[in-house]
Amino acid sequence: MKNIMCVFGTRPEAIKVCPLILELKKREGLHVTVCVTAQHRQMLDQVLDTFQIVPDYDLNIMQERQTLFDITQSILTLLRGVLEKEKPDVVLVHGDTSTAFAAALACFYMQIPVGHVEAGLRTYDIYSPFPEEFNREAVGIIARYNFAPTTRSRDNLLREGKKAETIFVTGNTVIDAMRHTVREDYTHPELDWVGDSKLIFITAHRRENLGEPMHHMFRAIRRVLEEHPDCKAIYPIHMNPAVRRVAEEELAGCDRIHIIEPIEVFDCHNFEARSYLCLTDSGGIQEECPSYGVPVLVMRDTTERPEGLDAGTLRLVGTDEARIYNTFKLLLEDREEYKSMSNACNPYGDGHACERIADILEGKEFTPWIAG
Ligand code: UD1
Ligand code: UDP
Repeated sequence: MKNIMCVFGTRPEAIKVCPLILELKKREGLHVTVCVTAQHRQMLDQVLDTFQIVPDYDLNIMQERQTLFDITQSILTLLRGVLEKEKPDVVLVHGDTSTAFAAALACFYMQIPVGHVEAGLRTYDIYSPFPEEFNREAVGIIARYNFAPTTRSRDNLLREGKKAETIFVTGNTVIDAMRHTVREDYTHPELDWVGDSKLIFITAHRRENLGEPMHHMFRAIRRVLEEHPDCKAIYPIHMNPAVRRVAEEELAGCDRIHIIEPIEVFDCHNFEARSYLCLTDSGGIQEECPSYGVPVLVMRDTTERPEGLDAGTLRLVGTDEARIYNTFKLLLEDREEYKSMSNACNPYGDGHACERIADILEGKEFTPWIAG
């Protein structure tokens, strides 16, 4: 029996790891232990409840206004005892959060093999996104198994000199999660409020966007909404107080936008699926919206998810107010422009990534995922 430990701590990791845990738990050859850092508390618990996963260990590290120092040092200190007790054969970490980085580093110090889920995403700009680009590159140095979602992410790893036999193209597990969430007959009071208007879906949280860039983003969004009475926006706001402050300053009193508390992933996917357009700096939402053919304006200077750019569904608009304003307005007013971005496609997976990862960990035969 192989002992696998899954370590994660934020909402997006949980959304992408929970379906994997459910799959791993079905496998006879694997014993699964779940350790959450709770880098996010409420937003993590929301996802754990949805997937009905009860962690074996909860490091409970989240603090109000936590710094990168706080997160990294608490995880390193607390995870050590868990690893010493459980002695896992492989520890799975996900993506590019500080939880993933600190957990991989703890494993490295104890010479425990690491499996990196969502490996090989890159911008090659260490400050963008910050600190995620560093985190994923650092995990990449440590990882024994690299579960790359796409052939592009595999190619990044190969170029960096990773051995081909450590890289497995699986698709992204978020597409697996979506198989459980999107429903034709879905309803919600917020969607009733939107009615026949065009639904604009908004999220924002990136560390490098806090402060001035976020002011620009929200000002542009407000201006466009106020000029377009046929649109209504829903914005489930991140719990970071630094985000909430800017949103309050820039968006309060705009009756065409509803700022609501973070919604369950089930709701989020269904809101996205019914959206006309999404404006976000999120990573996960860039992967989800293309499946629904919902165009995404990515309010960042770089993306590690070029597959969606190639497919035409994503467009990078940075954080400059004029650029966001002009592009957002163009997509509302120019039908052809909108149509050119609204093709449904699945560049990130086929919904079977978790099975592939479980097969690999069990030492079974594995067929890589190839897009298209
Ligand atoms: C973290 C990840 C980022 C990921 C994002 C997903 C790092 C460095 N950042 O950024 O990669 O894209 O999660 O959302 O790993 N808070 C709560 N309750 C919660 C969650 C957050 O109150 O459930 C508040 C706390 O005050 C916390 C702050 O938000 O201090 C920031 O959380 P943190 O995890 O440090 O940063 P994120 O921007 O969420
Ligand atoms: N999400 C959610 N509720 C919300 C907002 C987002 O469940 O109120 C989901 C969304 O569907 C996606 C993930 O959270 O799967 C993205 O998380 P986030 O934007 O916080 O992090 P990132 O992907 O940028 O790391």
